[in-house]
Amino acid sequence: MDNQSALLNEYDAWFDSTGLKGFLARQLFGTFGLWAASTPLIRLPEELSLTAKTTHLDIGSGTGALARHLSLRTESPNAPVLIDFSSIALKIARENKPMGMPDRNTVPHLLQATATDIPLKTATFNLITCGYVAKHLDETDLFKLFSEAYRLLTPGGLFLLWEFGPSGNKRLDRWNSFVLSRYVSQPILRSTETLQEIADDAGFGFYEDARLRPFLFPPIPRASILAGKPPEGFEVSDRLRTETP
Ligand SMILES: C[S@@+](CC[C@H](N)C(=O)[O-])C[C@H]1O[C@@H](n2cnc3c(N)ncnc32)[C@H](O)[C@@H]1O
Repeated sequence: MDNQSALLNEYDAWFDSTGLKGFLARQLFGTFGLWAASTPLIRLPEELSLTAKTTHLDIGSGTGALARHLSLRTESPNAPVLIDFSSIALKIARENKPMGMPDRNTVPHLLQATATDIPLKTATFNLITCGYVAKHLDETDLFKLFSEAYRLLTPGGLFLLWEFGPSGNKRLDRWNSFVLSRYVSQPILRSTETLQEIADDAGFGFYEDARLRPFLFPPIPRASILAGKPPEGFEVSDRLRTETP
């Protein structure tokens, strides 16, 4: 069995489990997790000035909590698209009713696919998000993910990716990797600088540390990057390829 099939089996087992493990997975990758483990994302509509014109794709969506949140907050008539390789995660996403506003446009389109090869039309979305997937991908696959995000963005669109990252302290990082590897096999922790290099290689015109923080839970640092595809005819100066302070 290759690594991706093994990982998919792990996630399916998590989401499908009827015990405490399944309950925790559904909570952690659901609305509760959005508030407890991905707190800065709650303010994305303000931080990125999202409007009703948002066309959103979430890669590795889990149960779709972020897409539902953004949909409700932006009141975009464009249904978000959720991609996940786990049919069980997508089944939970389908069953999760949007809270508050039962507008059919907040009901997402669901697509079972891998993050590195997305069967959707080029230049379709002006916002692409991807949370907690990068740690599973080696260099080649992470480059493919960034390249797919670049291809799928409309000119002027934004790609936001976040993941557990290194702390800068080797002993602490070994401990964090040990803690994470109890839940997912062999996570790869990358710094924001590394993510920026990959964004550059994938052709993004500009990118910066998204400075998404604080994450409240678990107490492991996150790396995050906001990368943009310049509007047509826009010359990107080196100044816009922002260095991490
Ligand atoms: C840790 S969960 C995060 C879910 C969601 N992004 C969140 O922040 O709550 C990672 C999700 O990505 C999916 N995933 C992992 N690797 C993937 C890949 N290569 N292609 C598509 N989905 C993937 C898993 O099935 C899982 O639903």
